[in-house]
Amino acid sequence: MYLQQGVKIYTKLPISGRIFLSNGVERATVVNGVPCTHKAYVAKRDWRVPTAQELNILFDRHIGLNTKISIIKLPLYVRYLLKKSKIQGANNKRILDSITQSSEFKRAYQALIKYVTSFQSTNDMPLNPSIGHGPVGLEHSSYNFTLEKYPGLHVDSWDEKLLHERHLSRNRILINLGRDARHFLMVNIEMRNLINFISRERYIDSNNHRDIHSNIELFFDENPNYPVVKIKLDPFEGYIAPTDNIIHDGNTEGQTVMDIFFTARSFYNCTAKPSLKIF
Ligand SMILES: [Fe+2]
Repeated sequence: MYLQQGVKIYTKLPISGRIFLSNGVERATVVNGVPCTHKAYVAKRDWRVPTAQELNILFDRHIGLNTKISIIKLPLYVRYLLKKSKIQGANNKRILDSITQSSEFKRAYQALIKYVTSFQSTNDMPLNPSIGHGPVGLEHSSYNFTLEKYPGLHVDSWDEKLLHERHLSRNRILINLGRDARHFLMVNIEMRNLINFISRERYIDSNNHRDIHSNIELFFDENPNYPVVKIKLDPFEGYIAPTDNIIHDGNTEGQTVMDIFFTARSFYNCTAKPSLKIF
């Protein structure tokens, strides 16, 4: 199936060389060398440059109702402080821990949080702000520490909303703090619209939020050629995305040192509040 109208991406950054499409997904029995105990799906490896028409489907030049994803870059002042903290030079967990304890980093982190907060549509503090890290060279990098497995393409369930209420969940901000580019993989369909891609008799309409995963499996079973979108995020770039509402994953292929990122959840707008653009 061709790429359909769905979730839109907004950015002021150049998009040339940033977006790739795969011609669908395949079932995986092993992800990153770890056997799957579940039905896992991964993007096919045939990444290609999108056509002009596909870019039109994916991007909003101006923020509209369907604009849910934003690609952003840290302001110069925050980048300067982070570079000074040498976080990009960390090549193992011990060094990363010692850098994140340093006063240089704490100053940078404060500026980072202030910047992230300027995207919020609410006044509460971002949930679960953290510095994450992981191995390089993974086609599907998200790891479920509770189940000790790589889920492959998946939808988060932090807010545990039902399928048709997923668009009311918090979204996620993630900033690449590593030395190399990392990638965000996603399918541009909101959970409440999955029903349009699944046979009515197979679609599971229930009040159990866990049934979302069965519907995602049905979506991939019936639409194995639907394109996965791969978005390149250079160092100090990031995304805001509704990860409880779209199928997605991370990708650290091409990285050489260590995958390092900042992430937090909240109700984020796609752009920062003008009054707080102080950097
Ligand atoms: Fe996720």
